[in-house]
Amino acid sequence: MLARSQAKGDAVSGDKILLTGGAGYIGSHTAVALAEAGYAPVVLDNFSNAKPSVLERLEMILGVPVALERGDILDRAFLADVFTRHEFGAVIHFAARKAVGESVARPMDYFETNCCGLTALLRTMEASGVRNLVFSSSATVYGEPDVFPVPETAPRWHTSPYAMTKLASEDLLLAMADADPFWAFGILRYFNPAGAHESGLIGEEPDGIPNNLMPYLAKVALGELPHLNVFGDDFPTPDGTGVRDFVHVMDLAEAHVSSLRTLLDGSGGHAVNIGTGEGSSVMQMLASYGRACGRDLPWKPGPRRAGDVAKLVADPSLAASVLKFRTRRTLDEMCESSWRWVTRNSR
Ligand code: UFG
Repeated sequence: MLARSQAKGDAVSGDKILLTGGAGYIGSHTAVALAEAGYAPVVLDNFSNAKPSVLERLEMILGVPVALERGDILDRAFLADVFTRHEFGAVIHFAARKAVGESVARPMDYFETNCCGLTALLRTMEASGVRNLVFSSSATVYGEPDVFPVPETAPRWHTSPYAMTKLASEDLLLAMADADPFWAFGILRYFNPAGAHESGLIGEEPDGIPNNLMPYLAKVALGELPHLNVFGDDFPTPDGTGVRDFVHVMDLAEAHVSSLRTLLDGSGGHAVNIGTGEGSSVMQMLASYGRACGRDLPWKPGPRRAGDVAKLVADPSLAASVLKFRTRRTLDEMCESSWRWVTRNSR
């Protein structure tokens, strides 16, 4: 039996799953999805890009406390101690740096956290006999693909140090799985995560001026930024603006539960895209966010951003067949939940 029932008021019971970076944007939503599926998430975070108050928010959503281990994945003594005090059924590894531009300026920080952090974790798992790992990868491993939608068989290459770390991490896991049947890895290649938990209690909280489209739009909608800069209106797309596969963060969270179940039931490892298979343009996102906040949002056309591709859309069919996973939520639900989150949490 993988998951046991959970009584209201008790700590979450069921198989313990370690979530490195579990207080972050995708980690915190996955903690909710795991607890709702009957697992007991244990959040490990150094709070370099998350707030400790996320744990209180998780308790408000779930009605039960979520265990926290505060520390850094590069600290091997800390990791060893965590694995001594808990018996984990599996690990979901979110803890990583993720800003493409920053990775160009500080490549060593990216390799240290993303690659050395992964090997530190794998060494500790090996020593503790924990063999199942779900790994946060990214569509960035496809570089600038010319096939649409993008299948998992598309060539993988890098366009930034951040992408190099995801490629190197994937390659390490694939080589380890080939070398030793002890290991079972679920590699999830996220397309563009967006939105927030339906409660508006947890969501994305970038520091400073956001790089990504949805958190930027949220600040325009709140009146904290004057307008959206549309990066390029002359792409070969229907309205000339960039097209992406936005995936609701709660759908993405549920994909982790599906990946975990597949590993735990012995069906073996996988490397799959997590997306909807539907592309939305910057202008479509702008219109959807405008509907969510109840007014037309100001925008200005501008030049293309360096390195941006015209279109990036997932072929989600492998995740459907291997994980039995399909996204359920719409672009409007992503914008509505984001707006609920930012209006509940602004000022
Ligand atoms: N965009 C704007 N204005 C903005 C921000 C974004 O027009 O202020 C446009 C971009 O040009 C792009 C689209 O909105 O066409 C989406 O941009 P995001 O920055 O939200 O997302 P990206 O697709 O560029 O990046 C995401 C992740 C990266 C990952 C990459 C490739 O944020 O971590 O997908 O998988 F590397």
